[in-house]
Amino acid sequence: MRILVTGAAGFIGSHVCEALAKHEVLGVDNFNDYYDPELKRQNAAVLKKQGITIKKIDIRDKRFLSLTKKFTPDVIVHLAAMAGVRYSIEKPLLYMNVNVDGTQHVLEAAKHTQAYVVFGSSSSVYGTRTNPPFSELDRIEQQISPYAASKAAGELLCRTHYLTTKLPVTCLRFFTVYGPRGRPDMAPRKFMEAILANKEITQYGDGTSARDYTYVEDIVYGVVQAVLRPNGFSVYNLGNDTPHELHHLITTIERVTQKKAKITHVEVPLGDVPLTCADIRLAQKELLYQPQTPLSVGLRKQYEWLTQ
Ligand SMILES: NC(=O)c1ccc[n+]([C@@H]2O[C@H](COP(=O)([O-])OP(=O)(O)OC[C@H]3O[C@@H](n4cnc5c(N)ncnc54)[C@H](O)[C@@H]3O)[C@@H](O)[C@H]2O)c1
Repeated sequence: MRILVTGAAGFIGSHVCEALAKHEVLGVDNFNDYYDPELKRQNAAVLKKQGITIKKIDIRDKRFLSLTKKFTPDVIVHLAAMAGVRYSIEKPLLYMNVNVDGTQHVLEAAKHTQAYVVFGSSSSVYGTRTNPPFSELDRIEQQISPYAASKAAGELLCRTHYLTTKLPVTCLRFFTVYGPRGRPDMAPRKFMEAILANKEITQYGDGTSARDYTYVEDIVYGVVQAVLRPNGFSVYNLGNDTPHELHHLITTIERVTQKKAKITHVEVPLGDVPLTCADIRLAQKELLYQPQTPLSVGLRKQYEWLTQ
């Protein structure tokens, strides 16, 4: 199978490429500086050793369409995006441009090559809900950040693409992914790095906001299963089924690093939701998805990677 992965130099994209390495994989990434692009170059170097090339191309550029036509993928795993909720409040136009227009460019390329698309969506589409668990059958209409709205819009575009082309699309809603090569703007890595440097960590709110933290290998398993199973237009939650409060994340990181965190308390920022909690029954049934990694184990693996 020929598989094109967008956002291949990023955190999840680099793991997905590795897991698909027995197929013919081509990566695309614009290596932007939302966080240090050197980290993306390091991810690309890891993939290169496994024979996977990443082309430096923007999904909004016409070169992306030319490359896709040349490569003729069977599947496009579309993970390129401006990720990160808080920055989207500062730069909503950029987020719409990349995550909405960019996704339409990817769908257009899929139409030209008749490829199946697997789209990296997000738990943020569930917005401010507090009644867990969150099911794919629930209405989604309470997004509170441009990022969340851009992902909900991306799903709508995917659905319309399916209805107008009859080409299959699967949207995967990832729930707070962490692990080796984790994004430096996300709490697990940010907290570990701060604690290691004897710096303060910033706790938003009273520590009771909760996230369904999901280890990257579990997510990648779900992505690979989806790649192998086109099924009309489908939406699946890929979460861990077990939300943890922020103060639990901090105490677990303290245990893993064997250091006490110095905590600064600030207000909950705009765009942050109180809870995410995946109902994973549909993914269990149709993708044979079964997360294996408890938070304490996954954080230990991330810490070992960070300090190796
Ligand atoms: N990490 C999470 O917890 C999480 C949760 C929900 C959804 N997601 C989604 O999963 C996907 C991957 O997220 P990640 O955490 O690996 O983020 P990431 O930022 O590490 O990866 C995204 C990659 O896309 C690339 N990119 C951005 N704009 C591009 C463009 N215009 N053209 C080409 N490449 C571009 C970036 O350079 C980056 O390498 C994203 O779509 C994100 O929204 C992630």
